[in-house]
Amino acid sequence: MNTSTVPAPRQRVLSGMQPSGSSLHLGNYLGALVHWVRMQDEYDAIYFIPDLHAITVPQDPAELASRTRVTAAQYIASGVDVEKCTLFVQSQVPEHAQLAWVLNCLTGFGEASRMTQFKDKSLKQGADSTTVGLFTYPILQAADILLYQPEGVPVGEDQRQHVELSRDLAQRFNTRFGPVFVVPKPFIQKESAKIYDLQNPTAKMSKSAGSPSGLINLMDEPKVTAKRIKSAVTDDGAEIRFDRGEKPGISNLLTIYSLLTGKNVDDVVGHFEGRMYGHLKVELADVVVDHLEPIRTRALELLADQAELDRLLNVGAEKARSIASVTLADVFAKVGFLPAHTHDSAGAP
Ligand code: TRP
Repeated sequence: MNTSTVPAPRQRVLSGMQPSGSSLHLGNYLGALVHWVRMQDEYDAIYFIPDLHAITVPQDPAELASRTRVTAAQYIASGVDVEKCTLFVQSQVPEHAQLAWVLNCLTGFGEASRMTQFKDKSLKQGADSTTVGLFTYPILQAADILLYQPEGVPVGEDQRQHVELSRDLAQRFNTRFGPVFVVPKPFIQKESAKIYDLQNPTAKMSKSAGSPSGLINLMDEPKVTAKRIKSAVTDDGAEIRFDRGEKPGISNLLTIYSLLTGKNVDDVVGHFEGRMYGHLKVELADVVVDHLEPIRTRALELLADQAELDRLLNVGAEKARSIASVTLADVFAKVGFLPAHTHDSAGAP
């Protein structure tokens, strides 16, 4: 039989992103979302909103619910297409918590204690306000990944150690109980897409790190965005060139300009040759506002019809469960749990 006409099955990728605030920022957008959107054409892509992870630190319930919807709306408005990929909210797929328990029981206490993100966060918060949930956060993340058998997990460098843990746990389970899991690879996004804080351009753009004026938020009004760009910290000297060491502020603005226009950085530098910092800021403000305004408008439209948004997410959760429940049933059987009635979709809310 000639198999050359049979399309190769697409590789699966899975990713999620913890929204740190009430809006995603440009770092989330350029560092993750645009890659997700590109990948949904080439891959069998699964994206989700990790609300179970969110409660590892205290959350106001109404705000959590609202933030989950706003995040979903921003994903969709940015081009994540629910027809092309699977998009869901983690807490609507109970298999995540169920697999996490099994993986908790395969993870060494010392092994979990070595996770650098936990060490950093718990040091900052102090032992008394650090929850056990924060400690087991990476194990829940491993469950998120392994349930869907993805080949790749597109994440930033900061998540590499967590993906490595999920590889170790997959291998450990497979060796101890028999093969169930695909061992996933981290697909690490390039450093070149890294966006820095406008007020402190050696620190990554992040809600928790800087002041609000250092952020460009997808949901901010255009005039707020323009103002923040115009008041971005620049560097000594007057020449517009790309130099992360000497000119972190200007280099950050050039990176943003380059990524949003699709021009390479050298061409952007050429475009501004002989001109002043102020010119770059004014033009960049237009570029950013023109790019983000339709996303914000679309997100607001989606949020205006909450019932429809919730329906889309429920459809996504059903699709996700149809994959996750198969993996979980296999895991439970291998571990030695008695068979239960299969979860069919009729049982889901
Ligand atoms: N820890 C990730 C972050 O902070 C979010 C996340 C949770 C995730 N589960 C995941 C990412 C599974 C990739 C795969 O952004």
